[in-house]
Amino acid sequence: MTARTTDVDICSTGRGWRVPKSCYIAAMNSGFSDADRLKRSALAAVALRMGWWRGFKLARGYWRTYIRKGYLPYEPSLWWEAYHSAADGSDASTIELSADPLVSQYHYATIETLILRVLHTYGMPQRVLDLGSGAGHWLNFYQRLGCEVTGVELSSEAARRLRERFSQIEQCHIADMELSGFDLVNAIGVMFHIVDDDAHRRAISAIGQAIKPGGLLIVGGGFPLISVNVQFDEDSQVNKRLRSRRYWRQELESWMDVRFIRNRAAREIHAIVPESDLLIAIR
Ligand SMILES: C[S@@+](CC[C@H](N)C(=O)[O-])C[C@H]1O[C@@H](n2cnc3c(N)ncnc32)[C@H](O)[C@@H]1O
Repeated sequence: MTARTTDVDICSTGRGWRVPKSCYIAAMNSGFSDADRLKRSALAAVALRMGWWRGFKLARGYWRTYIRKGYLPYEPSLWWEAYHSAADGSDASTIELSADPLVSQYHYATIETLILRVLHTYGMPQRVLDLGSGAGHWLNFYQRLGCEVTGVELSSEAARRLRERFSQIEQCHIADMELSGFDLVNAIGVMFHIVDDDAHRRAISAIGQAIKPGGLLIVGGGFPLISVNVQFDEDSQVNKRLRSRRYWRQELESWMDVRFIRNRAAREIHAIVPESDLLIAIR
């Protein structure tokens, strides 16, 4: 079997370089010629570049956000309607239209592990509200844990597909929802797609209304030092904005126990996966 660049089995060369373990062991043990070693170090270079992707994306984002400026926020309803019409309703196509199913499964598994750890600490919820449900991965996850689930989804196409599998689906923008009484609100890979600052604040306020006092909020995404726009479409419209930890702490000032959990496993794979650290907070 040939080694994939998505190999998760990695080891360190001692100089901060990480290469797929299979390449490393093969190169050490099988008497390769210098030429072969060179080819294998090219593989290592690809792995290294993948590791630097996040840094590059942030640096490019800071440049475009604070120096070049001039980008417009996208129009979410139209954008997500078009996106879901092109997607096939699978988890993989929810994170990226042409995502590798193996990478997608790894991505979801790393976040599931973190959430299970959080639930182990804070206890199992009964009623769960999942925001930006997409293909329904998180509705399915909480339902399998025995929770009663409700989903909120902006796109009518995605909502139509979700209704075939789940009974409680609201089709609206998170900022416009009027729901209450939930033990847990789960928002993975969606809050950073609310680019408009006013809509983002209204969304946080609607989330506050939806969670019972003492209930838990879980947000999945990226939480850098300064807020930064990281994804731009061909019309120079921004469709992903990572908000800083400071921003979140300010917006959740009246909440308890606001903390951030790094998703280390997501960084251990030589592939590009969406931002998947967690923010957790108690209402
Ligand atoms: C990147 S996908 C993530 C889907 C899902 N949470 C997951 O992790 O598999 C983002 C989803 O959020 C939905 N979405 C984006 N902005 C939204 C908003 N303002 N209100 C509700 N849903 C939204 C999109 O239609 C899309 O299905």
